[in-house]
Amino acid sequence: MNIREIFDSMDYGPAPEGSSEALAWIANHKGRFGHWVGGRFTAPGETFATRNPANGQVLAEVTQGSAADVDAAVKAARGAQAKWARMPGFERAKVLYALARLVQKNARLLAVLETLDNGKPIREARDIDIPLVARHFYYHAGLAQLLDAELPGMEALGVCGAVIPWNFPLLMLAWKVAPALAAGNTVVLKPAEYTPLTALLFAELSVQAGLPKGVLNIVTGDGATGAALVDHPDVNKIAFTGSTSVGKKIRAATAGTGKALTLELGGKSPYIVFDDADLDSAIEGLVDAIWFNQGQVCCAGSRLLVQEGVAERFHEKLKRRMGDLRVGDPLDKCIDVGAVVDPVQLETITRLVEASDGEKFRAPCALPEGGCFCPPTLITGLSAASPLMQEEIFGPVLVSMTFRTPAEAVELANNTRYGLAATVWTENVNLALDIAPKIKAGVVWVNATNLFDAAAGFGGVRESGFGREGGWEGLLAYLKPSGQTKPLKPVAAVAAPSEPLVEGIDRTAKLFIGGKQARPDGGYSQAIYSAKGKLLGQVGIGNRKDIRNAVEAAHAAKGWGKATGALRGQVLYYLAENLSARASEFAGRLRDLTGRSGEEEVQTAIRRLFTYAAWADKYDGAAKSVPLRGVALAMNEPCGVVGIIAPDESPVLGAISLLAPAIAMGNTCVLVPSSVAPLAMTDFYQVLETSDVPGGVINIVTGPHGELAKTLAGHMDVDAVWCFGAGALSKTVESEAAGNVKRTWVNHGQATDWATAEGPAFLRAATEVKTIWVPYGE
Ligand code: NAI
Repeated sequence: MNIREIFDSMDYGPAPEGSSEALAWIANHKGRFGHWVGGRFTAPGETFATRNPANGQVLAEVTQGSAADVDAAVKAARGAQAKWARMPGFERAKVLYALARLVQKNARLLAVLETLDNGKPIREARDIDIPLVARHFYYHAGLAQLLDAELPGMEALGVCGAVIPWNFPLLMLAWKVAPALAAGNTVVLKPAEYTPLTALLFAELSVQAGLPKGVLNIVTGDGATGAALVDHPDVNKIAFTGSTSVGKKIRAATAGTGKALTLELGGKSPYIVFDDADLDSAIEGLVDAIWFNQGQVCCAGSRLLVQEGVAERFHEKLKRRMGDLRVGDPLDKCIDVGAVVDPVQLETITRLVEASDGEKFRAPCALPEGGCFCPPTLITGLSAASPLMQEEIFGPVLVSMTFRTPAEAVELANNTRYGLAATVWTENVNLALDIAPKIKAGVVWVNATNLFDAAAGFGGVRESGFGREGGWEGLLAYLKPSGQTKPLKPVAAVAAPSEPLVEGIDRTAKLFIGGKQARPDGGYSQAIYSAKGKLLGQVGIGNRKDIRNAVEAAHAAKGWGKATGALRGQVLYYLAENLSARASEFAGRLRDLTGRSGEEEVQTAIRRLFTYAAWADKYDGAAKSVPLRGVALAMNEPCGVVGIIAPDESPVLGAISLLAPAIAMGNTCVLVPSSVAPLAMTDFYQVLETSDVPGGVINIVTGPHGELAKTLAGHMDVDAVWCFGAGALSKTVESEAAGNVKRTWVNHGQATDWATAEGPAFLRAATEVKTIWVPYGE
């Protein structure tokens, strides 16, 4: 077509980006790559091909990492870690800053290589992925600089293993590597098998930034290589982004090992359009939500919920807009939708779409021959329960449903096992700010979509995983309190004496469920003796069914999470006051149970209730400084229903130290008290009953820790489990929790000093940070 013809037709002409520099880089390495270990490439081993999904051509051969390769990389990382962590924050900051500059300097090369390996439009790689990578390193250079002053008493975890997906290869590297390095960790990263090349180029460039050898290591390979990294005994943390099914496997594989874990998993994020929305803007937002990166985005707005009154008009506009989408060569700057990453993914998407009986509308665009191209597709007429409404498709496929009222929109939005992101379109700011907190998701965008920044936390709830990336909250996932821990010494229960001393009438303490005392379902109880062999009373032996009832009661009491912090604070003060009135009775009980004076323990417990009464209305969120006209609000929300296994030692103080922050932040709880001195907390029922704590906010089930911890951790309606019991409970809790990837907080058999156990770590465990993006202005 000549220029005159182009002017006449006003059609787009192709505007391809050149690929010669990127191909030359590959050719310089003879098209074959080893791993990056200890600051240099290893010799290629057994290799597999990485291809350009736009044309199927082999780009390079990369090495399939073996367990021995992983081991060598972990050794290199371990060797470099202590020195890297000891460097002043300013020195690490300089290296991170230099990495940011290098990314900017090589932006074009990185963007083209990303597009070749992944199939994403060059426009996106160039304008979104790579600038965000640079921004991430700049931001974390700043965190490295400020860390010592702002987070005293914290230190690096050690060696971090990162396993990342193929949808944003270099950006996911940045999300893992920047905070890990800022905090003083070293890293072994395994890129996805489809897209290893930009990680290798980045590693090679890192030498120029002065990154010491061994601080960053890259081992290429498939899931088996990832599993070898996850299983390596000398790795202190695993940071994973990928599918929920692999996330669950990693949760189970790391259970009980003491490895820290963050999981950023899948989603089926709702895109809610109210009838007063600016529909044209909402359409443009939707194009970004579901056709950005061919829909291969964990937080893709893949579930359109549109209000009935405007649904027909909205769908019409949408179909018209879909007609304008151009699918084509990813290196062409004029295309909107590139290639899906691999034929395997294309086949999965096609299979899922074909199996659906919904009404399908495929964008009427030409698809190039020979590559992994998939037409943008809209599916309507599905029920809320249909597989495509529930399952992540991870392709350019949008499913749509209508709703009538805001309440129904929230109900449909939350009708999913995931909880990653959500988008809300309305011109009514009251409505938007009413809906955003009600949606179960880690990120909510108002009148915008897919906004990301290094300063704002990103991550999910429910089966979308746990942990945040970005911001101070993301950095904390790479740190731990400094200092040595001590193994927990188990406390034995007083064995039944051969001739127990029985005085007075036998009293059997029941369970406490939904604000009422309840008999244990099994009908069994256990005798509790004093250190001197006196029968102190009986406690009910709770079972699976009692836990089920307690969880139900905790759910029914979730209104507590909506009460103001001020009100929750008042209730906590009242609890403290009522415990104080009975302090000597509790202290006496503790003396009987443990043989030690209980006075100090009870006094500390009262102070602790005061501490969290104070925190209840002071654990503020933040307005993040993101590069946008608007705000990104980081709101601290309760996790939901929290199961708590209290420690055996410090039976009152341990339980209160965990219960108080949990309820102060708006959670409802199922508490399993100390298994050796449970009577200490059954006396607490009366304190609760006189303190205006609504029924169901605190439920108490006494019984054997092993069985009850397992039941709580495996319960699909429990959002988090904290376990400070003795023995192998941490492993049980972490592996059972894999079922719905609930958050866990366990002691890994290490002792806690309950006299000082309070503060931000407890508040952080009790909350989820939700980031609500609200752009403003015209
Ligand atoms: P995946 O979850 O299998 O792969 C992600 C990463 O984990 C890759 O580096 C892979 O090599 C590694 N991996 C696989 N098995 C592992 C194991 N047992 N232990 C340790 N590492 C392991 O995702 P896949 O197969 O590439 O894509 C399948 C589906 O997963 C997609 O269709 C999509 O639904 C979802 N997905 C979600 C992503 C997200 O960001 N939420 C990203 C990638 C995929």
